[in-house]
Amino acid sequence: MNKYNENNYKTMCEEYSRMTVAMPPDSERIVRDSEALFTFAAWGDPQIFHGSSSRTQKFAFACADIANMEGKLDAIAILGDIAEMGAECEYKMCADLLNGISDKFTDLLCVTGNHDIRIRDYKSQRNKFRDFVLSVKGGVFDNDNGGYYFSRDYDCCRFILMGSDSNSFEGTNIGRAQRKWLDDEIGKAEKEGKIAFVLNHQTLKHSNGLPVTWGGNGKWRGSIGIQSDKIKDIFEKHKNVIFITGHLHYGFSVYSYEDCGCFKLLSLPTVGVVNHGSMNKDSQGYIISVYPDKITIRARLHMEGKWLNPKAQGAYIEIKR
Ligand SMILES: [Fe+2]
Repeated sequence: MNKYNENNYKTMCEEYSRMTVAMPPDSERIVRDSEALFTFAAWGDPQIFHGSSSRTQKFAFACADIANMEGKLDAIAILGDIAEMGAECEYKMCADLLNGISDKFTDLLCVTGNHDIRIRDYKSQRNKFRDFVLSVKGGVFDNDNGGYYFSRDYDCCRFILMGSDSNSFEGTNIGRAQRKWLDDEIGKAEKEGKIAFVLNHQTLKHSNGLPVTWGGNGKWRGSIGIQSDKIKDIFEKHKNVIFITGHLHYGFSVYSYEDCGCFKLLSLPTVGVVNHGSMNKDSQGYIISVYPDKITIRARLHMEGKWLNPKAQGAYIEIKR
């Protein structure tokens, strides 16, 4: 770590030591259901920033909620924008917090977001991101193709992690090779009767409330970008895709989940920044469980250590298998 990052990291640690991160109440703690075949937490955009300690605090609350749970998660999935500036000190802070709860999850599955890879040299940012993932106990990285995409197979599901092939300020560049790989990976899972949880930082065009959920701006802004239709064409060839994304910083709402027939879209709020929309509480995330006959998706208010009122929009989603 260079001097600049070292100094910032020191400051971040000092700020963290002065923070109040109260342990959530036990009354509504997360309980791992032993009937579930697989259970994971899905978080969007921690965006840890050396210039704003409140991001660290919000993320720490989410970690505290997991620390307080009964049982253990099979995985935590983080949908990109781990670090606001893609800086080493920010990744280190995030890794510290995740390592503090590493006894509460088996695997850490992370995809890159635009903040992680933009502005700087792609290859060095990609390597920095890989090093961050591998610095966390349980961090999964399985890629030798020079990009950032790989899959992780489990008994009942396959996680397919997408990542931009080059720098992009706001979108994701998904090249021909990655698109072919995506199609093949989804197909393999489908043949084996498994759900394909496809993880990417941005959702499809005109989906999950876009453009409303991106401030009402642009024809593609807030989405993957120019390859969006090609990705959608791939999803439409199969019947098993649940596409999970972040980026929008939009709280639980009617836009969180979209049933597109043969594939489903789940857009996550942010766990570290400010959530837009009417449900704008801090530190929101989903807890997802796979059962033999269904998938349940429950909205969690991590800062309060509570489930969102089940009558609220986006609070509880059930998908039949
Ligand atoms: Fe983003």
